[in-house]
Amino acid sequence: MNITNICCIGAGYVGGPTMAVLAQKNPQIKVTVVDVNKERIAAWNDTDLNNLPIYEPGLKEVVQEARERNLFFSTEVDRAIDEAEMIFISVNTPTKTYGKGKGMAADLKYIELCARQIAKVAKTNKIIVEKSTLPVRTAQAIKSILDHTGNGVTFQILSNPEFLAEGTAVQDLVHPDRVLIGGEESATGKEAMEALVAIYASWISRENILTTNVWSSELSKLVANAFLAQRVSSINAISELCEATGADISEVSRAIGMDSRIGSKFLKASVGFGGSCFQKDILNLVYIAKTNGLHKVADYWEQVIVMNDHQKNRFAENMVSKLYNTVSGKKITFLGWAFKKDTNDTRESAAIYVADALLNEQAEITVYDPKVSAERIYADLDYLGTRSPEENRRLLKIVKDPYKACAEAHAIAILTEWDEFLTYDWERIFKAAVKPAFVFDGRKLLDASLMTAIGFDYSAIGVAKN
Ligand code: UDX
Ligand code: UDX
Repeated sequence: MNITNICCIGAGYVGGPTMAVLAQKNPQIKVTVVDVNKERIAAWNDTDLNNLPIYEPGLKEVVQEARERNLFFSTEVDRAIDEAEMIFISVNTPTKTYGKGKGMAADLKYIELCARQIAKVAKTNKIIVEKSTLPVRTAQAIKSILDHTGNGVTFQILSNPEFLAEGTAVQDLVHPDRVLIGGEESATGKEAMEALVAIYASWISRENILTTNVWSSELSKLVANAFLAQRVSSINAISELCEATGADISEVSRAIGMDSRIGSKFLKASVGFGGSCFQKDILNLVYIAKTNGLHKVADYWEQVIVMNDHQKNRFAENMVSKLYNTVSGKKITFLGWAFKKDTNDTRESAAIYVADALLNEQAEITVYDPKVSAERIYADLDYLGTRSPEENRRLLKIVKDPYKACAEAHAIAILTEWDEFLTYDWERIFKAAVKPAFVFDGRKLLDASLMTAIGFDYSAIGVAKN
């Protein structure tokens, strides 16, 4: 089976970059990315590539090369479904906020809507590819909807989870450690898998393309994220111990990371992990374990989240305690709001929760982030529903110049590890700050001896203060 026309439903952080790279590497295939969100599609089509809806290093260049050649962004969902031989589903799957499994299970309503729409429109056989991260056995649900509501055409369902990390999405797509494709073990299932393998094989060597059964593929995605998040929570747990004992977390990380059985990646202590996937996928795993009656398994993984919440809380509490137990009316500057550097994504960012805790103590927060918009920051806070939108806007300001943001601050907190924070004139920032000038480095980013030499009262995650 030779695929010539692909459609992707969902032009978000996953669908957009993934399809851009797939189209760049397969100029013979027409790739159409559709989305119900008109503004998002308009932004993807903007002639000024700086206006793309998603910021990722290297993405502009890929889009520039492929767009209008074989890569198209559109709101005409039905037409794109009708024309495609292969359809990727890349819509969001947030944690349920209602009903059974509230706060834990994945909300699959968008996935189901997509399946029903495909069933309604399809007049020819199609291969459906799950790109969104889904609970195990979702493929079966999709298949059931398609088979019972469709026009008699046949569907093959594949699971092809994404492993791209935001901020390095293009690199991760171009040079993935592996590509995972799950499918049915039947002859038609194998044929569908092979069609997708061929597309990836145009730039990835076949040894790095794994094929498995559908359930293994779906579960592997959740497990990969759970293991990564667990490493961050493990090192963050040790960071607290370091602060209490005088060990230095970077030294500990380095020492254990050089053990090749442990490895050095994902051992950076932080103010807590964020992002759209880790928490959601672990909760999902916990929910699956619970519904199978495996309560010890569920508790084990849930602890990763408990530790992460603790890390965010204790960062905020530590700030209050160092600032003489009151931050009421004090200006506190946040450098960074994104959940990590090189992305404008803020989903589940630790900054949101640290801000919320400090606002509860009546702090006045000023935020500077090089890529995140003011609307996004307010939307993140409003979403928590802790206080009114007016109150959030009264207590928290967004400033587009880092020096102005830091002027007259009682404390500066580093929430995201943006490289540009390293290049600042910290002497200048010190002069303009209220004394004693506190810096709380949630990313252990800045040079401690330099900061102390300038005169700051500097403390970082995982380092004891004497
Ligand atoms: C992704 C993955 O798909 C999800 O499984 C993963 O676990 C987290 O990240 P992401 O691309 O980051 O989602 O989500 P988002 O940026 O919200 O993009 C999803 C897009 O789908 C949105 O632009 C939304 O408008 C669109 N959408 C959603 C549709 O076009 N139709 C729908 O029915 C629902
Ligand atoms: C993650 C997975 O890495 C990716 O494979 C999956 O497909 C989607 O989820 P992403 O959420 O984009 O990607 O970012 P990631 O780089 O994994 O970082 C997640 C969070 O962990 C960030 O808040 C980051 O700052 C934090 N982190 C990461 C640490 O605190 N310490 C580390 O050592 C690594």
